[in-house]
Amino acid sequence: MNLAHLHLLLNHFPTVGMIVGLGVFVVAIAAKSDDLKRASLLIFFGIALLSIPTFASGTAAELALAKTPEVSTAMIATHETAAFLALGVMELTGALAWLGLWQYRRMSRLPQGTLVAVLLAGLVTFGLMARAANIGGEIRHPELRANTAPVETAAANPPLARVIGDAMVNLKWGWPASETVHFIGLCLLFGVVLLVDLRMLGFMKGIPYSTLHKLLPWGVLGFGVNVVTGILFFIGAPPDFYVNNPVFIWKLALILVAGANALYFTVFEHAWTVGAGDAPPLAARVAAASGIVLWTGVIFCGQMLPFFGHSF
Ligand code: HEM
Repeated sequence: MNLAHLHLLLNHFPTVGMIVGLGVFVVAIAAKSDDLKRASLLIFFGIALLSIPTFASGTAAELALAKTPEVSTAMIATHETAAFLALGVMELTGALAWLGLWQYRRMSRLPQGTLVAVLLAGLVTFGLMARAANIGGEIRHPELRANTAPVETAAANPPLARVIGDAMVNLKWGWPASETVHFIGLCLLFGVVLLVDLRMLGFMKGIPYSTLHKLLPWGVLGFGVNVVTGILFFIGAPPDFYVNNPVFIWKLALILVAGANALYFTVFEHAWTVGAGDAPPLAARVAAASGIVLWTGVIFCGQMLPFFGHSF
């Protein structure tokens, strides 16, 4: 199995996941159910994570079809641009959903502003994802196309992601500046991970979790910065640069699991009950230890990219 197979496996999750997430969210608002609201926020966050490998694996599917003459490269370019736009708004929805989960933990309610923002961003994401998926389906099914206009339009226009990626690479300072920002994001993220996880492992016992959790948005900001700069590297590099590298596949997989692990400290009760001097419960210790291992794995894979495959 390679990343092209993964694209075929994952590519319906963002659209179907958004239908499920939005459905639960609307029912939650109508039924005034906080539990359902939190469930839908979790779904949005999960789908935002899953959309990253869905997007990256699309490039492998594109490469796999490169020598298939009956497949229109222009159609793939149209699909790529649609997917890129959808991915951008999806990640915004995921960030807002995380904010909602964190605010809920702090205030025991979801502020109206966040609720409206998640709903609007979710609806736009669904529309864009459905459009990207629809065009993706037409790549192999020309009989489904209403007309060939999008194909011709795309032939004249390279994919948006490629335009942005090339612009970044052609700027003399583009790549080094993105690397610098990527490292600042990494420090922010891993710094917060270490502080929270070490406290949950029993260090710095004087600090209650009610103080420590205020750092979580900084960690998520670091993660967001690294998603954006990571996507810039991905779209700036030649298409086969990362997708054929096994370490990149490991990095993507670890990001998914580590992201889910980080949710534990936002959503679950255990950590939030730890006061000054308290020993954290076993579940929190296990989550903390695995969090440090997982994020170290992500950093290790990032560092090892130049030494495996033919990236760099
Ligand atoms: C979040 C982003 C993306 C979503 C939701 C998505 C969704 C889809 C869907 C639903 C299909 C149709 C699968 C089928 O026929 O059963 C598809 C196919 C395809 N996608 Fe994507 N896609 C995304 C990103 C990308 C990207 C960035 C590329 C790179 C150019 C890409 C390249 C392809 C290719 C080449 C196919 C045809 C695969 C085949 O039938 O062999 N996709 N995609």
